[in-house]
Order: sequence, then structure tokens, then C-alpha cells
Amino acid sequence: MYLEEIHIVNFRKHRDLTYVPSKGVNLLYGPNGSGKTNILEAIHYCSLAKGMNRSLDRECLRFDADYFLLRSRYIDATGRETEVKVSYEKSREKKIVVNNEELKKFSGIIGKIPCVTFTPYDLGVVNGAPQERRRFIDTALSQSYRTYLDTILQYRRVLQQRNALLARHDHDRQIATDLEIWTEKLASYGASIIQERLSFLDRLEKVIKPLYQELGLEEIPGFRYHHTSGRISGEMNKKDIEACILERFEAVAAQEFMRQQTMIGPHRDDMVFTINGIDARKYASQGQTRTFLIALKLALQRMIRDIIGESPVFLLDDLFSELDEYRVDRILSILEGSAQAIITTTEKRSFSTAECMNIEEIV
Ligand SMILES: Nc1ncnc2c1ncn2[C@@H]1O[C@H](COP(=O)(O)OP(=O)(O)OP(=O)(O)O)[C@@H](O)[C@H]1O
Ligand SMILES: [Mg+2]
Repeated sequence: MYLEEIHIVNFRKHRDLTYVPSKGVNLLYGPNGSGKTNILEAIHYCSLAKGMNRSLDRECLRFDADYFLLRSRYIDATGRETEVKVSYEKSREKKIVVNNEELKKFSGIIGKIPCVTFTPYDLGVVNGAPQERRRFIDTALSQSYRTYLDTILQYRRVLQQRNALLARHDHDRQIATDLEIWTEKLASYGASIIQERLSFLDRLEKVIKPLYQELGLEEIPGFRYHHTSGRISGEMNKKDIEACILERFEAVAAQEFMRQQTMIGPHRDDMVFTINGIDARKYASQGQTRTFLIALKLALQRMIRDIIGESPVFLLDDLFSELDEYRVDRILSILEGSAQAIITTTEKRSFSTAECMNIEEIV
């Protein structure tokens, strides 16, 4: 999949701009504050209905403007065109229209235009709080499998219901029965999520290891899944995982009533990213964190491509800071030929394999 063109109106800094990247590796350069990240954010909106930094729609609205509009056109591997329009009016819900059809839910866009990012915000995936890693794997899986997205949305709904019941003070027999029903549902959805995550991480590990070598690194990256729902392993089937979760629910019942919330399950799990078997979150240097993240995102791009048969558009914000020339060369040669990549940078650089564009020529 590649972005053929994006038209940006009243989005962030940009009043009216059309950006036409090439199919391959693109460098977009310009000084600080010139609106490079804004363009990546606009492209990200067309894939995932939101910005990269979880900013609010109204924050993306150009100061003093009443609406923003993004119109982009993508071409997939079979040559078919997809047009995505995202529009937002002050104090209204945004609207997403794909090929002239308005989406009923924003989540409907996910997976249609797969996209992988590498931005300074993403560093939290390696060294931030567990929820950053959960968000990472959930977005990755949702872009790869529609059913995963449906399951995670169901899980969140059930979780909300169950938490509401736990928070009630008038516990009677009816509530106990209801709670049992929600617990079983949650265990069922939870088991599917855990199973998918484990198998995804297993595959991702097989892809990231050789990538480390391609990047000229001698370290060995890895993943470990940290369960809150008991002794679950990748070899277990869904029924066994479900049984494990239910058993844990019994063990934490008193604690859940006291805290009035669901204490175990995939919404509480974490992943440990390791370098040579050591927890990267706790021990990796800044450079190691950055290279882990870039390898992770390159691996993710390959994996999504293998699963859905479409290469995600790769958005790399400020790629070159803190990376040495050698590593930059390796990354570019990996990106080259793999798919479309849009890289922002403050300095003009010439690479034979990349199309170079000054942002000041398009604003
Ligand atoms: N809603 C908005 N309306 C108007 N301008 C905005 C809005 N949001 C952000 N900006 C402006 O956009 C600019 C930032 O643009 P952006 O982050 O894309 O720059 P950049 O080229 O990526 O810079 P850097 O090289 O420092 O990363 C800031 O000057 C900011 O004031
Ligand atoms: Mg920027």
C-alpha cells in the first residue's frame, strides 16, 4: 500500500497543502517547527483515525479555523485505489469517509490503510508504562486481524460492565449471577486476546532477530509475556487459558470487591522486551532503546505485510537524531524496496535511494 497524495486543509499549522510522496523512501526536510511532524500526523489520521501522540481532534484544528479536512488517496498491491477523507468541525464528531462511504465507527478504518510509525513518542513502548506496550501490541494485531480488533472492543465493553457491577454496593443474588456471566464472558474474550498476543510475539521475535543482524547489531532481542492470569503458556489451547483465567478470578475475588475493579486479565498484562535476555525497560541505554524500537517497528512492518499481503506505510519522525551514519545507512537499505517510507529530518541529506523534498516547497 502506498500513499499517492494527501491534501491537508486547516490541520495543525497547515492551511492548504498537497503532499505527493514517491512510492519508495521519502525524506521530508525543513527547520524546526516547519510542520513536518504535522504532515505525518495527518497521514496517521487517515490510517488510524487519530494522531500519533493521542492528541485531541480539536488540538489538530488550525488555530482560528472552524474545520479541518484531510483527503488522501492510496494504491494497494493490486493497483486498486482507496480514498480516505477525514473531516472535523469545531465541537462536532469527526467524520471518516472511505471511498465515498461514511464509516459508522471510527474503528472501521483500522486495517484498511495499514501504517507503522517510528516517532519519539513511541520510545515509551520500550521504556514506558505497561499500557504503552499493550497499546502497541493491540494496534499491531488490530491492523493485522479484524477479528482481534472486534474481540478487544468486546473485551473492553464487558470489562466496563463488570467493573460497574463490582462498584455496586447493593450486592444481592441477582448481581452475583450477573457478575458470574460477565466474568465468564471476560475470561472467554481474554483467552482469545492472550492467545493471539502470544502467537504474535512469538512470530515477531522470529522476525526481529535477523533484523538485528541486518542492522549490524550483535545483541539478541527477545520478548517475554508477563501474565496476570496465572500460569499460561503459548502451547495451551483457548479452553485451558480460559480455565486458568477463571481460576485466577476466584483467587482474587475478595481483592476485586475491595478495589471495585477487575484485577487480572490482558488489560493488566505486560510484555518484557529483552536485549540479551535482560529487561530493556530497566537496563537499555538510550541508543539501545532507540535501536530496539526501530528494529521492532521494521519487524512489525514485515509481519503485517506477511499477514495481510499489503506493506504498511512507514512514517518515521526525526529518524536520524541519535543514530550514527552506519546505522542510518543500514536502516535505509532495509527500508529501500520494502515499501513506502516517509522520513522527516531537519537537515537536508542526500541518499541515492531516497526522494528528498524541502517542506518549504510545498507549504
Ligand atoms: N492547531 C494548531 N494550529 C496552528 N499551528 C499549530 C497547531 N498545532 C501545532 N502548531 C504549530 O505547528 C508547529 C509544529 O509543527 P511540527 O511539529 O510539525 O514541526 P516540525 O517541522 O516537525 O519541527 P521539529 O523539527 O522541531 O520536529 C509549531 O510551531 C506549532 O505552533
Ligand atoms: Mg517534528
